[in-house]
Amino acid sequence: MRLGIISALSEEQQGLVEAMQSPYKLIHGQREYWVGQLWEIDAVCVLSRIGKVAAAVTTTTLVEKFGVTHILFTGVAGSGDKTVNVGDIVVAESLVQHDMDASPLFPRFEVPLLGLTHFPADHQLASRLFDAASSFLDEDFMEAIAADEKAVFRLTRPRIHRGLIASGDQFIDDREHINGLNAALPGLVAVEMEGAAVAQVCHELDVPCAVIRTISDNANENAATDFLRFVKSVAAVYACYIVRRFCLQ
Ligand code: ADE
Repeated sequence: MRLGIISALSEEQQGLVEAMQSPYKLIHGQREYWVGQLWEIDAVCVLSRIGKVAAAVTTTTLVEKFGVTHILFTGVAGSGDKTVNVGDIVVAESLVQHDMDASPLFPRFEVPLLGLTHFPADHQLASRLFDAASSFLDEDFMEAIAADEKAVFRLTRPRIHRGLIASGDQFIDDREHINGLNAALPGLVAVEMEGAAVAQVCHELDVPCAVIRTISDNANENAATDFLRFVKSVAAVYACYIVRRFCLQ
C-alpha cells in the first residue's frame, strides 16, 4: 500500500507531516507533496486547498505522479442531518456532487456521460477508518481534546455515522439550503467541498478511496463562526489520532 492523504486546509492535516518518518517535500502544480512513511506505511500527504477542482487535480497528481495506490481524505464538514452533531465523525459510504445539475438533459446530480450520481467509497478502507475513529472516540477522545473546547462545542459523547457525503463549490450557511439538500439526498450525513471530486477521480482511475470528516458546524447561519473556531482548535487533533490508528491496524 502507498497511501495518499489529502486535506483541504493545513489545520485539518496538522501533525501528520510531523509524524512522518524520513519525509521530503516535492512541489508540483503549486502544491507541496510530503513523501515518507507514516507508522511504517508509505505515504504522501498533501493539501489540496478548497473546492472540487483543487481536489480533483490533487487526486490525479497523487495517482499519476506519486503512484499512490489508496487515497484518504480527512477534514471537517457541515452537518447534513439533524441527527449529526458538531464533534461527530462521518465516514462516507458514497459521495455525490450536490451542485451538479445538467437537467433537463440529465437527471439532477448525475455526472453527464458517466451515468452516475453517487460514487462509492471503498468498503474496506471505509471500514478500517470507521474502526480507527471508533477506537479514537473510545480511548483517546477525553484526553485529546482540551476541556474548554469540549465545553464550547458541547462535545460530550461524539458519535460516528456512515452515509452519504455531498460535495459542492459552496460553503453552506443557510438552513433552507441544507434542509433542501437533506430532502433531495436520502441518507445525507454531511456537506463539504471536495470529497465527491476525489471519489469521481478515484472511480475513473480505479483507485480505492475513503473520506472521513469531523462535523465542524450545522451548515446554518452560525456555520462560519463555528467552522473557524473548530478547525483551529479541534480538527487537527482528530485527524492525527485517527490516521495513526488507521495505519497501526
Ligand atoms: N466544510 C465545513 N463546513 C462546511 C459547510 N457548512 N459547507 C461546506 N463545506 C463545509
